[in-house]
Amino acid sequence: MNVIRYYSTNIYSAELPKLLAELDKTCFEKDKMTEREWEKFFKHEKNFFLVWAKDNETKALVGVALIIFGIAGIAYLYSNAVLPSYRKKGIGTELLARRISFIKNIATKIQTHTRANNTESTRILKASGFIPIQYVIDFYGEFEDGVLFELKLKESGRT
Ligand SMILES: CC(C)(COP(=O)(O)OP(=O)(O)OC[C@H]1O[C@@H](n2cnc3c(N)ncnc32)[C@H](O)[C@@H]1OP(=O)(O)O)[C@@H](O)C(=O)NCCC(=O)NCCS
Repeated sequence: MNVIRYYSTNIYSAELPKLLAELDKTCFEKDKMTEREWEKFFKHEKNFFLVWAKDNETKALVGVALIIFGIAGIAYLYSNAVLPSYRKKGIGTELLARRISFIKNIATKIQTHTRANNTESTRILKASGFIPIQYVIDFYGEFEDGVLFELKLKESGRT
């Protein structure tokens, strides 16, 4: 069994958009972002935390997940993707757990959207304590509904 190593950063580097676009291409059917779109994304989102997983043998990037920090103590989980051949090994859950533990002392709650028909993502979120709080019709485009999930962390912000 391949050993998976986890890494994280909150500092932008020029290779990030390319890496994220490559993974999007393999992992997402519909929500893929191009390298250019990721570049634009990081121009606006300076306050982020990125976690990724690499196969320690091949050194290949096999999973990535992002948090962006918004207003009023809310952290937003943005993107969570694991290569198809590495799924169902706990990597998605570990990427989520690492983001939650990073956010714990910084934000009061975590929110994220997922497609209403994304059963894998829904199961992982629920298993980690997230609660569905809003069904959003056409969130991802026409007839592409989303669900807003939330995990409350504590009553006040930064300690
Ligand atoms: C959603 C996604 C990130 C999940 O990643 P993952 O690495 O497969 O997630 P996990 O392995 O932690 O959990 C998936 C399942 O495998 C199971 N599992 C975990 N470790 C396992 C192991 N060692 N052996 C067998 N099963 C295992 C989990 O219990 C879970 O089961 P469940 O679906 O019955 O609850 C992945 O499916 C993906 O990239 N999807 C496409 C992109 C996407 O839709 N992202 C979400 C956008 S919001």
